[in-house]
Amino acid sequence: MGVRFKGWGTAVPDRVVTNDELSKTLDTSDEWITERTGIRERRIGGTAKSLGVIAGRRALDDAGYGPGDIDFLVLATTTPDRITPATAPMIANELGMTCPAMDLNAACSGFMYAVRTAYGLLETGNRRILVIGSENLSRWVDWNDRNMAVLLADGAGAAVLEYDPDGTDLLSFVLGADGSAADLLTCEHGGYFQMDGKEIFRRAVRVVVDSATQAMAKAGVSAEDIALVVPHQANIRIIQAAAQRLAIPMERCVVVLDRYGNTSSSSIPLAFDDARQNGRVKKGECALMTGFGAGMTWASAVVRWS
Ligand code: ACO
Repeated sequence: MGVRFKGWGTAVPDRVVTNDELSKTLDTSDEWITERTGIRERRIGGTAKSLGVIAGRRALDDAGYGPGDIDFLVLATTTPDRITPATAPMIANELGMTCPAMDLNAACSGFMYAVRTAYGLLETGNRRILVIGSENLSRWVDWNDRNMAVLLADGAGAAVLEYDPDGTDLLSFVLGADGSAADLLTCEHGGYFQMDGKEIFRRAVRVVVDSATQAMAKAGVSAEDIALVVPHQANIRIIQAAAQRLAIPMERCVVVLDRYGNTSSSSIPLAFDDARQNGRVKKGECALMTGFGAGMTWASAVVRWS
């Protein structure tokens, strides 16, 4: 069975927060943040719903579909507007959709988990799925904690996936989870994000490399066949370390974290859209999409653009 990516859309808040601005209230500096993370500025504002609505509408427009053409909405978010109801039905309502809609939380792997879920839904009789990753991480950041404040930000990205009996864009996927690492990155009810950054870093490189290697093997492609890597945007050094171990040159990796920081489940579609705007997505070429996040979760997929 086949799946096509039919349209993409993104949304980021207008408010830009630079490293220099953070340095005014935190014991940090533009030099440290840029050197240790690659982040120069980030966007702050909106909610999972408001950003998700904009990204979702843009993806529908890009695909040339209206709200009635979609059979299911899957929203990946770590930061729903409320514990209940889920944010997805509210987004669907704003978009004029009455199809089933649900939230999915796989942290920064969320978008790829949602794509995998959409694949399963298409396999069982749905025609088109709207997948959205939308995050309002800034709401759950303690702005006095430099560990998290320099990293996390807000944004959304969306894609329309469509059933196609004759061919597929999605060649393989490999997902995983290791709940024994759950305490490495947490946000308690009413609390703030906290993490063991060093341990996350170490494990992130390992799970990205392992899952990407498996996904390429399943797709029957090698590292040389990968024209574009669309990685989760957490830290430039994680992307560099993984790319080096996978023997894929950094020039083939999409990097947008310098402008957007870590937007969790939004970061892969934000990176993809940036690559597309810059003419880096070419028909017939293969891309590796790969992410990791709290849970810990991870997900890699090989795509060939049609
Ligand atoms: N500003 C200035 N100095 C800092 C900061 C900061 N924000 N943070 C730490 N430092 C200092 C430390 O105190 C330390 O100083 P010392 O040498 O005097 O002791 C020094 O900088 C180095 O600190 P490290 O913690 O070793 O810095 P590291 O290079 O490991 O970078 C970072 C820290 C950026 C957090 C990195 O470990 C990382 O990116 N980890 C992965 C994070 C991640 O991917 N999280 C996933 C989130 S996904 C989700 O689900 C939301």
